[in-house]
Amino acid sequence: MPEYLFADLEKKIAEKTAAGRDVINLGIGDPDLMPPDTFTKSLQEHAADPDAHFYSSSRGDAGVRKVIARYFKGRFGVELDPDSQICVVLGGKEGLSSLGRAFVNPGDAVACPSPAYPVYAQGVATLCDGKVQTMPLLQENGFLPDLNLAEGSKMLFCNYPNNPTGAIATELFWQKLADFADTHQETVVCHDHAYSEMTFGDYVAPSFLQYTRNAVEMHSLSKVFNATGFRIGFCVGRADMIAALVKAKSQIDSGAPLMIQRAMADGLAGYRGAEPPKEVVEIRKIYGERRAYAERALRELGLDVIESPATFYVWARVGDDELPFVQKALDHDVVVTPGRGFGREGTGYIRLALTQSLERIKAAMGRLD
Ligand SMILES: Cc1ncc(COP(=O)(O)O)c(C=O)c1O
Repeated sequence: MPEYLFADLEKKIAEKTAAGRDVINLGIGDPDLMPPDTFTKSLQEHAADPDAHFYSSSRGDAGVRKVIARYFKGRFGVELDPDSQICVVLGGKEGLSSLGRAFVNPGDAVACPSPAYPVYAQGVATLCDGKVQTMPLLQENGFLPDLNLAEGSKMLFCNYPNNPTGAIATELFWQKLADFADTHQETVVCHDHAYSEMTFGDYVAPSFLQYTRNAVEMHSLSKVFNATGFRIGFCVGRADMIAALVKAKSQIDSGAPLMIQRAMADGLAGYRGAEPPKEVVEIRKIYGERRAYAERALRELGLDVIESPATFYVWARVGDDELPFVQKALDHDVVVTPGRGFGREGTGYIRLALTQSLERIKAAMGRLD
């Protein structure tokens, strides 16, 4: 196994900070903002629930699954059976790697986009002794994969809104992916929807389950509720796939802590149909302003910036080799992630995570200039 992408960066940042440098870290996608008060209050209250200290179940609490089903119907218009089509996970990362455990046998091919969130290739394919079958995400194709490259795979991962490119999927792509899922019953198609709620302006991200029911979709509360450390999310989709996930998980975990599941449920219950609660609207506004500023500032610095109405990641092309840029930024105490850290096809690009205040982002742009 290679080191997890951010382990190496964290070492470098720790060295600089220890040496007294004021490092502006635009590396990891860990929100600087606090979770909404309602979310943390809910967690405190549920910590005192008389059953909160018991093991939960690997599928998740039945009441919480009902709330997820109501949220899903309101937000995406998709009906889910809470008993068979929903599984609570300890964050998307755990959920994705447990899906791998459920389906990937040694030697199986796993179709992974590149660049991509590293867990598909490493946490699934490599840890399960499978093979990575790469689907390059190229700028000229809007960072959407050629699904012909997924033929013969046991699992296929996609993720829109996308980390690291910020790309969103077109209507045509959703239909093609749904066709693939419907005609390739041997392939477990997983759409990773970690950024479903992190969208700006008029863009609203659909669920892949609006296009097919032959798939699973991973959701996370980490980004939209600024709650990465809470470790909570859920997986939804085809009942037999969810059953396999629960079976694998039940050998590994005993369910997410009940108090955190219930805080998630209270957060999701704040949606009125597809309308998010005001806390989420506020969080989106802040990230949207940062994004608009950073896109403009990087363009003014002469970089080829990928514009997007989603995610707090800005992806920009800096030349054929991004490492000199990354090193020079680090020399000026700004951390950006080298694109190749997300896969070979990310070479030549950098990713900025807008997880610092606007003032700090402005200061970082000054240093980059
Ligand atoms: C694309 C993508 N999927 C899943 C996750 C997992 O998030 P978590 O494990 O915090 O739910 C992340 C986190 O950065 C991500 O970028």
